Amino acid sequence: TYVVTDECIKCKYTDCVEVCPVDCFYEGELMLVINPDECIDCGVCEIECPVKAIKPESAELIDWIEKAKFFSGKWSNITIKKPPLPDADKYKDEKNKFEKYMQ
Ligand code: SF4
Ligand code: F3S
Repeated sequence: TYVVTDECIKCKYTDCVEVCPVDCFYEGELMLVINPDECIDCGVCEIECPVKAIKPESAELIDWIEKAKFFSGKWSNITIKKPPLPDADKYKDEKNKFEKYMQ
């Protein structure tokens, strides 16, 4: 699977959703996740994200994949691009946003 990581939080540029051939992005208040059970590993979304939040699966991203499994069961599917969150440009370079804003 590909996985959305910390950079997405409080930004949500949503360029990623329109290119996914299987429509497997799900939207929370502060970020999107990819449903790992639906992603077909095509990789086309990776280059669409302006803040490089989307990465291929790797051992160090296991926690993010677990979060994605959990949240994709709770959040709604998103397939159409929409405006980013209002302060996206302010938060795009901040680190450890999950710890600060999502727990
Ligand atoms: Fe969708 Fe392909 Fe990205 Fe997976 S890698 S989320 S299938 S665009
Ligand atoms: Fe998030 Fe990047 Fe998509 S910021 S909504 S993963 S384009």
